[in-house]
Amino acid sequence: MKALVKQKAEPGLWLMDVPEPEYGDGDVLIKVLRTGICGTDLHIRSWDGWARQAVTTPRVLGHEFVGEVAAVGAAVQDVAIGDLVSGEGHLVCGKCRNCLAGRRHLCRSTVGLGVGRDGAFAQYVSLPAANVWVHRAEVNLDVAAIFDPFGNAVHTALSFPLVGEDVLITGAGPIGIMAAAVARHAGARNVVITDVSPHRLALARKAGATLALDVSSADIGIADAQRQLGLKEGFDVGLEMSGRPEAMRDMVDNMTHGGRIAMLGLPAEEFAVDWSKIVTSMITVKGIYGREMFETWYAMTVLLEGGLDLTPVITGSYGYEDFDAAFDEASSARSGKIILDWSA
Ligand SMILES: NC(=O)c1ccc[n+]([C@@H]2O[C@H](COP(=O)([O-])OP(=O)(O)OC[C@H]3O[C@@H](n4cnc5c(N)ncnc54)[C@H](O)[C@@H]3O)[C@@H](O)[C@H]2O)c1
Ligand SMILES: [Zn+2]
Ligand SMILES: [Zn+2]
Repeated sequence: MKALVKQKAEPGLWLMDVPEPEYGDGDVLIKVLRTGICGTDLHIRSWDGWARQAVTTPRVLGHEFVGEVAAVGAAVQDVAIGDLVSGEGHLVCGKCRNCLAGRRHLCRSTVGLGVGRDGAFAQYVSLPAANVWVHRAEVNLDVAAIFDPFGNAVHTALSFPLVGEDVLITGAGPIGIMAAAVARHAGARNVVITDVSPHRLALARKAGATLALDVSSADIGIADAQRQLGLKEGFDVGLEMSGRPEAMRDMVDNMTHGGRIAMLGLPAEEFAVDWSKIVTSMITVKGIYGREMFETWYAMTVLLEGGLDLTPVITGSYGYEDFDAAFDEASSARSGKIILDWSA
């Protein structure tokens, strides 16, 4: 089968013929239809410091996908050949305290699909049945392909109650944009989102943000936006989705007392924030990793059934042979989510 492989420990990706993945008694073999390109895949292609310590070659990339079940292992019961499925890309140990308590998203020995084991940028991928999410409701295939990052957005956005609240999102990448749509859908009063890319801010407006602010221009800052919207005491909930120190500082400066921050963005290195302000404003900061298994997946499905529209975030689609162009577009500051089609 064809697969996109990190074949050598150097920048680049290689489209190659590799053997179909094996699957055990508890596993499912999936024929991949569409995949989403994630920042993680861009890091692995460019072979930066993070990728060099996280990935051993050769490795098939990719963790955001939708596909059709082609075969099931002898012990698999609730997944059937022909089911339309996406996959939870965090494989957990099943033995640690949190796994045993059913809090699988808190597992301390998580292995990542397409990072620590062969992934979904291929014509077939195998996964434990316990990691498979069957789409039992009708779903747009491009949207089904990005359930993994959609899940990051839902997990973060629904970490704190949003009804009637004023929400600040820093970072209008694909996940920030989806979080804006989720926050509006979930009943937030105002959703203000920031970025330094006018293209991405335009997408965020389409997705339902009340105000989308370019923090690289001096025109209007977050404090001005608060005045413009009539906020008197600051934002109630913050969703940090850029991984940038200056964005986190902006957020801390603009929160209400007792405000709550859910932080998904992964900073490239340590940075300083004004802890005395966090203490005296009594702000809660919660780190978010991955998706809750499978509460987040349930929430995603029913949010879509309830009319949540994610299509504005999908801005490009390529056949898998054109992966280089697709990756280039995904690494530009203009794009939303880019899809690779494996069905041909
Ligand atoms: N914790 C997790 O499980 C998890 C999972 C997926 C992604 N992530 C992280 O979440 C973040 C969002 O993911 P994404 O795929 O949307 O990433 P992305 O890199 O596409 O988006 C980040 C956005 O932040 C913007 N930005 C840069 N400086 C800014 C500033 N000063 N203020 C506001 N915005 C600024 C960038 O222009 C970009 O649009 C990334 O940091 C990513 O690494 C975390
Ligand atoms: Zn991803
Ligand atoms: Zn565990």
